[in-house]
Amino acid sequence: MPSETPFIVAIDGPAASGKGTLARRLAERFGLAHLDTGKLYRATGCAVLDAGGDPADPAGAAGAARRVDLAGLGDARLRGEAVGRAASVVAAIPAVREALLERQRAFARHPPQPATGAVLDGRDIGTVVCPDAAVKLFVTASAETRAERRAKELRDSGAAAIYEAVLQDMKERDARDSERRVAPLSVAPDAVTLDTTLLDADQVFEQASELIARALAARR
Ligand code: CDP
Repeated sequence: MPSETPFIVAIDGPAASGKGTLARRLAERFGLAHLDTGKLYRATGCAVLDAGGDPADPAGAAGAARRVDLAGLGDARLRGEAVGRAASVVAAIPAVREALLERQRAFARHPPQPATGAVLDGRDIGTVVCPDAAVKLFVTASAETRAERRAKELRDSGAAAIYEAVLQDMKERDARDSERRVAPLSVAPDAVTLDTTLLDADQVFEQASELIARALAARR
């Protein structure tokens, strides 16, 4: 008999590593729901900025995190660089992480119908949010490769982007995400690392698909 527990794929990795695109494609291929958990932190950071607040203020940021509406995560404004910076500042506040943790676990426990499982991508999915995930992937690439991708993304969306500035920003964000006290970016001991510095998006997708197909077959 098929298992009743939702099938969870946890994907973690640093900024612009390609984990978001990979998560979306995998969810589609395997009929799983998808939650980009970075959007929850981005929505929190954005709400604080909109209210004229300071993202480093714990009380204001925690209040904003509790009010985040999952239905509003498609807002294009959430993709901006200033919002990304604010997101990584609010993400270091324990009360913010606590407020968002249960929302993420609820999504994993009860993925929106008709999905019988979910792909969650972020920084701490395999380590904190879903430590029992069936498949854990850590998607990474060199800071230079990630900065090039992010600069191209920005230019494609019509924004001005200077590679050196994007690289500097990327390194600062990596440091903030890896060095924070709560749920820092780290590789779960049972995660498979996919380095996308030399692999293109399709190769990463095929490797990840194979791992998931194998895990699904093992459940049957
Ligand atoms: O798209 P990008 O990789 O630039 O960032 P994101 O995934 O949208 O996440 C924005 C910020 O939220 C990150 O820099 C992290 O500080 C934070 N975040 C987190 O702490 N934990 C997660 N599970 C997801 C994001």
